[in-house]
Amino acid sequence: MAQALVIGSAGQLGIELVLALQAKLGTNEVHISDIRVPENETVLQSRFFHLDATDESSVFKLLEEGNYDEVYHLAAMLSATGEKRPLSAWELNMQSLLNVLEAAKEGYVKRVFWPSSIAVFGPKTPRKNVAQDAALDPTTVYGVSKLAGEYWCRYYHDKYGVDVRSIRYPGLIGHRSLPGGGTTDYAVDIYHAAVKNEVFHCFLEAGTTLPMMYMDDAVRGTLELMAAPKSAIRVRTSYNLAAMSFTPQAVAESIRAVVPNFQIEYAPDHRQAIASSWPESINDQQARDDWGWNPEIGLTELTQIMLDGISAKAHEVTG
Ligand code: SER
Repeated sequence: MAQALVIGSAGQLGIELVLALQAKLGTNEVHISDIRVPENETVLQSRFFHLDATDESSVFKLLEEGNYDEVYHLAAMLSATGEKRPLSAWELNMQSLLNVLEAAKEGYVKRVFWPSSIAVFGPKTPRKNVAQDAALDPTTVYGVSKLAGEYWCRYYHDKYGVDVRSIRYPGLIGHRSLPGGGTTDYAVDIYHAAVKNEVFHCFLEAGTTLPMMYMDDAVRGTLELMAAPKSAIRVRTSYNLAAMSFTPQAVAESIRAVVPNFQIEYAPDHRQAIASSWPESINDQQARDDWGWNPEIGLTELTQIMLDGISAKAHEVTG
């Protein structure tokens, strides 16, 4: 049997995490599942299980038979899509988590990872340098589900000894997979537009500052958190994690340093209100102290990596 299972392996984070786990553990030591088939040949070299994570008996069956050391449960509906389908978002985000936690309570898995988000913060949270224990004040169904999920995780840990670990991710930016349905997605889409020499229509205002992170930092942090000794994990809701903060205007400028004729136009939509409710920057001292978190990539390097990565893939496809 394999060591790790990734639920939600077809998503933006899922694809990247599977690639990292395959490199760390070996392809056969990773099992993958999703309600749709991941669009990545390397990811698909691991054994795939079709799974509706909201279905308790299917989750129980897969976890009991797999007897995994680690389950990464990433299936979720993100902030923007969640506002269009609030009850579906709640059902997917909550029921799937409870199914995994219940299976862990039965002893079918040793360690669980579950992602939270900066979406747990809101208007009552300070705008800058948000502390680990700052006020949580989510305005979206996605954020409400993440807040509730954080407390469910702590509850299962405290009551039943379930070793579940979590990170409040900022916007994640990578070039090996595409995001979908999030408010921070612009920061990935903008690089694809730049490589195609297209004018980028940004759905956020030029000056909207949000916390962001390069995907490799996020994946490395996740694996480091999961590898840390149990005794080091002092936060059983979810850890703040930070790398950089920027505005759409600052990304556009960093792209122009490489692609001088890059153009951006601003057409804020319903996602602006979501972005405006989130803080500008996050304090992650607790993650640094407890398990040695340290981000590596800032905006200038991020831009170069994203443009290079997307261009290389475009050449592969056309060449
Ligand atoms: N990237 C997510 C979103 O925009 C935030 O966690 O919904």
